[in-house]
Amino acid sequence: MQEILNAPFVAELIRTLTNMYRHGWDERNGGNVSVRLDEDALRDYLDLRAVRRTIPTGFDAPDLDGEYFLITGTGKYFKNAQYAPDRDLGLVRLAEGGRQADLLWGFTDGGSFTSEFPAHMMSHLARRRVDPETRVVMHCHPGNLLAMTFVHELDERAFTRTLWRMCTECLMVFPDGVNVLPWMVCGTTAIGEATARKMETARLVVWAHHGIYASGRDLDETFGLIETAEKAAEVYLKIAHLPICSSITDSQLHEIESRFGVKARPGYLDPAPGSVLPETVQPMSSWA
Ligand code: 13P
Ligand code: ZN
Repeated sequence: MQEILNAPFVAELIRTLTNMYRHGWDERNGGNVSVRLDEDALRDYLDLRAVRRTIPTGFDAPDLDGEYFLITGTGKYFKNAQYAPDRDLGLVRLAEGGRQADLLWGFTDGGSFTSEFPAHMMSHLARRRVDPETRVVMHCHPGNLLAMTFVHELDERAFTRTLWRMCTECLMVFPDGVNVLPWMVCGTTAIGEATARKMETARLVVWAHHGIYASGRDLDETFGLIETAEKAAEVYLKIAHLPICSSITDSQLHEIESRFGVKARPGYLDPAPGSVLPETVQPMSSWA
């Protein structure tokens, strides 16, 4: 049996959590990450029959039965995960129709998985229906996106269009756009279900006045989605109160589509090139 702390999936998660903390996205215990793993990737590191504890999940999810997830613990600080990974992370296998999580490794202080477990598990299910290669769900509290939910209308099309126009590469990175949930109590099955519904049409879901969820095929891709949207939100907050002298037009976004073979979410760009954004100074309120 090999040491699980040397397993690439553990090392990569620790690296990612440390990076997320350094970006300022995860104050205190803010944020949580889950990674779906194949049984074959685990056999060299764990006796998969040795269940240390069972933890009730509080929901039914028969489609997740037998699935393995490496996941952050509730109340744990991302900045500390590198120093105590077996305390701050856990590896679970879902059982009993998804109502139970068998703990195979981690949470050594008696802890449990993130309070956002429902949002993670339901988002995994929703995204896998769209893309079976989906493995990662990531949640954090990036300051600029969070701030933007206080000053920008929460309409998903308008929110997405603003972000796309803040950096040329946004449309390439998230052509499916950003969905937005209005404020809800976090850590509940209800917000989990609502997030999963939003995940059916986009890999990024903003939680108004709280943070963001992202899903992807691996940690880098998922991190990059948040990083790109957060950069766009930062630019927006830098310019939103200033007179706008020049900006990216819908016609230019159509050019990106043709050049890079991406397709913007249907209905999000004006079909008549150049007809939405005049090139002259406009107040921010006329942008959406
Ligand atoms: P956890 O510590 O339970 O993961 O909660 C952090 C968080 O960001 C809640 O939304
Ligand atoms: Zn949160």
